[in-house]
Amino acid sequence: MQTLAGKKILLGISGGIAAYKCAELTRRLIERGAQVQVVMTKAAKEFITPLTMQAVSGRPVSDSLLDPAAEASMGHIELAKWADLVLLAPATADLIARMSAGMGNDLLTTLVLATDSPVAVSPAMNQQMYRNVATQENIATLARRGMHIWGPAAGEQACGDIGPGRMLEPMQLVNLCEQFFQPKVLNGRSILITAGPTREAIDPVRYITNHSSGKMGYALANAAAQMGASVTLISGPVNLSAPAGVKRINVDSAQEMHDAVIAHAASHDAFISCAAVADYRPEEIASQKLKKTASNDHMTIKMVKNPDIVATVAAMTQQRPFTVGFAAETNDVETYARGKLVRKNLDMICANDVSVEGQGFNSSDNAITLFWPQGELALALASKEALSISILEKMHELMSLPPEA
Ligand code: C5P
Repeated sequence: MQTLAGKKILLGISGGIAAYKCAELTRRLIERGAQVQVVMTKAAKEFITPLTMQAVSGRPVSDSLLDPAAEASMGHIELAKWADLVLLAPATADLIARMSAGMGNDLLTTLVLATDSPVAVSPAMNQQMYRNVATQENIATLARRGMHIWGPAAGEQACGDIGPGRMLEPMQLVNLCEQFFQPKVLNGRSILITAGPTREAIDPVRYITNHSSGKMGYALANAAAQMGASVTLISGPVNLSAPAGVKRINVDSAQEMHDAVIAHAASHDAFISCAAVADYRPEEIASQKLKKTASNDHMTIKMVKNPDIVATVAAMTQQRPFTVGFAAETNDVETYARGKLVRKNLDMICANDVSVEGQGFNSSDNAITLFWPQGELALALASKEALSISILEKMHELMSLPPEA
């Protein structure tokens, strides 16, 4: 989805080894509809060529303040005004120091002085250089002046050291750009979301679960955070990392998910139950591994019903959050979804037909119809990220309606 359609991003690259990631970063930004104008310092060109950056951005790279040809096409002041966002990645200790001192001794630092657009700085350097008091003070100065500081991450460094100073990965920076441009319609709202499957233990090594990947719930959490909400994500076991700015609570079983949701529901404005909660669990969990025996050709596990989490929240009489459920159906989607909406006392339900190949469980795309007591809205097949924004916009609209007389 073109989440950055028409956004003009001036990507300033300084001379650090992480500069090699800028080609990937540029491609991902452009893929999302952004226009990217690359500006490189002299040192940056030692790490990645202007030709590479020109090829991936589709625009000539600007690298000199004193280039008559470049000044004639788009002068440095024009360039500074053109940008909706100036993203400095990687920002070396030297670039950060020069900006902190207010210098304009090359094109990039001059642009930073000449722009009144927001500036995001993504530091990247050796961990000791990052920890140095001078660097820390310089970064604090930039933050105090209103620049956004994105990163760094900690981990293994190109020089072999381990510690803080790694540039954020390209997709993390893309995500921060999306977050930066997303209208903050959910500012001030708190949203609780469940995601993923649950695991119902049989014995210490076995469990019953389902095919939920957690992608939809994680996409919702990410979108809600990008739209300004404070988000708590209660997650079953999945292979996904928590979206930036989201508080994640990990659980295994339906009962654990239930307990975590109940502990947090009253303190949130909305609850979105996206998890594929197991309806039943083994009545007893064997304390030791169940053994296969020669005489046992069959095995029976007695199951008991799990609590219905979303129905429990929807039945709250005090501080009840706006409650949204999901319905994965294989037929008669509207009938079953509306049935659940009423039976579970939900405010909205997101229904999808999981019998259609390429959507729903484990897929990156989905098509969903939203039902609420007074209406419905069909959302065509789209990425789970794009759908999340539409779902949250509708939810926000319904939450903002005056209570019925
Ligand atoms: O499983 P079912 O189709 O009834 O799920 C509909 C909704 O109920 C989903 O939002 C799901 O997260 C929620 N649910 C729940 N607790 C259960 C079963 C389902 O919260 N035990």
